[in-house]
Order: sequence, then C-alpha cells, then structure tokens
Amino acid sequence: MVADRPRTKILLDGGDPDETLRVKTDLELLDGQTTNPSYVARNPEIQRRIAGGRRLSSQEQFQAYRKIVQQISPLVGDAGVSIEVFADLNTSAREMLEQGVEMFSWIPNAYIKYPCLPEGLRAAQISVQRGIRVNMTLCFSQEQAAAVYAATLGAADPVYVSPFVGRLDDCGENGMDLVWNIKKMYAHGDGHVHVLAASLRRLEHLLCAFSIGTELATAPAKLLEEWADAGLPQPDARFAYQAVDSKGKQLKSIPYKEIDLNAPWESFDLHHELTTKGIERFVADYKNTLQLAA
Ligand code: E4P
Repeated sequence: MVADRPRTKILLDGGDPDETLRVKTDLELLDGQTTNPSYVARNPEIQRRIAGGRRLSSQEQFQAYRKIVQQISPLVGDAGVSIEVFADLNTSAREMLEQGVEMFSWIPNAYIKYPCLPEGLRAAQISVQRGIRVNMTLCFSQEQAAAVYAATLGAADPVYVSPFVGRLDDCGENGMDLVWNIKKMYAHGDGHVHVLAASLRRLEHLLCAFSIGTELATAPAKLLEEWADAGLPQPDARFAYQAVDSKGKQLKSIPYKEIDLNAPWESFDLHHELTTKGIERFVADYKNTLQLAA
C-alpha cells in the first residue's frame, strides 16, 4: 500500500478480473471497482464465447456477470464493486429492484447501480430502506443529484452518485463543473451521498477530482496506469484545471443552481438527454454483443 495515498477512493472502471489484479498490483492500492453493461460485454471470456459462435441466453448473461464480479470482489477495498442492473427506458422500478436484490446477494461488497431516471430513483429509495447499497449512475445534472439525495435520506450506508464528466465534455460542456456544483450543493446536506467522479478520460480529470475532494473517483485501467507512471500526483485545491476538450477548445461552464435538498425527490426535473442516450448505449452494447451474438 502506498504510504501517502489520496483521500479520494480510487476505483477501476472495467469488467475484466485479470485487469483488476494487474491494476491493483501496479498501483498497490485499489479501493473498488465500477462495472457496467458495456464493460461486461467487452469482458474477454464473454468475447471468446461469442467469437466461438455461442449465443448467450439472458440467464447465461446474468450468470457470466455474477462470475465476473465474484472474481473482482476479493481484489478490491472498502469502496466495493458496483453492479449495474440491466434497464431500458421502459424498465419499471419493480423490475430494477428484483435484479438489484439478486445482484446484491452475489458478493458481500456490492453496490447496485440504478440509472438517474424516475424508476431508478424509486428502486433506489426502496433499496436503501432494505439495506441495499446503491450507486446512482448516468448523472448529468445537479437536479438529478439533488433527487438522489432526497430519495435516499436515512440510508444506513453511504450512497454513491456518479456524475459522468467525459460524456459532458464530449458535448462541449465542462463536466468537472457538474462535479464541483454537486459537491457545493451537498455541503448543505447531511453527507450521506458520496460523489463518485465517473466517465473520466484524461489525467487532468482525475487530478481535478482529487483537488475538488470527491469521495471517490473511477477511471479505466489506462488512466490509472498513466497516473501511476506520473508518480501518483495528488494536487490540492490550488490545482488549475484546464477546461478544454481534446482539441484544446474551451468547454462551456455549467452554472451552479440554488436547490433545496429538502424538497421531495419527485419534484425535481430528472430529464437529461445524456441519461436517455446513456441507457440506449448500454442497451445496445448488451444486446448487440451478448444477446444477438451467435
Ligand atoms: C462508471 O460507473 C461508468 O459506467 C463509467 O465511468 C462510464 O464511462 P464512459 O463515459 O467512458 O463510458
């Protein structure tokens, strides 16, 4: 274990237990892992099965996901393994919850990922009442993060919310502003929701997450290895983040909004186009790579 580690917990974004072991060995620390349907679809063993011409039934897909997280589970620390329910835009809270209950039983350190959609929030609200840890994914707005806070009040364990930085950057908006705004808003709360900076693409994203003081950050292996190669830098609040895209173009800032965290979660506008697109992308990866492969 590195002596001077960041306060931010470090998670690997992926779906391959061999990669988890490699990153843990390289970094000498790994607090947790996030998975999602796209990463599971890219898992080497699943890819081999598909290349061998074997169609996976939905039950086999579920079992394959379970095997992957069971291999990853003992390799990571107390930030756990986030497991994502399979949901499209019509999946009900009840259907998400059924999956969540089952997935939570797979490993002792599970966090169940529900999308920041009304049905996902409903499933999360019931989950935390039943002691199921949750990670609210595909978060693209401060309103969604406020709804996560309000829906999960009273949770016994920390609730994670995952703002997707890189996907906002891809659309010309400064994704790190969203992370900053959520942290500022939560400073008025009781601390039960932890911010997990996600969809990180550049080393600067990770360093900025450290400087903001997010409780957690998840990054793909390539990025964590780049951080290790750079000597594990841990900038503080004075870090000067350059809000530019890959071509050096300035990203548009996302203004902070005054939001009452004590309002009922149903009163917040949960719609965000990127949440919808994110669900569609996960469904496409799930179906194209797994279900329809023959
Ligand atoms: C983490 O929980 C997310 O699934 C992940 O960070 C998504 O990253 P991407 O935008 O690179 O797909």
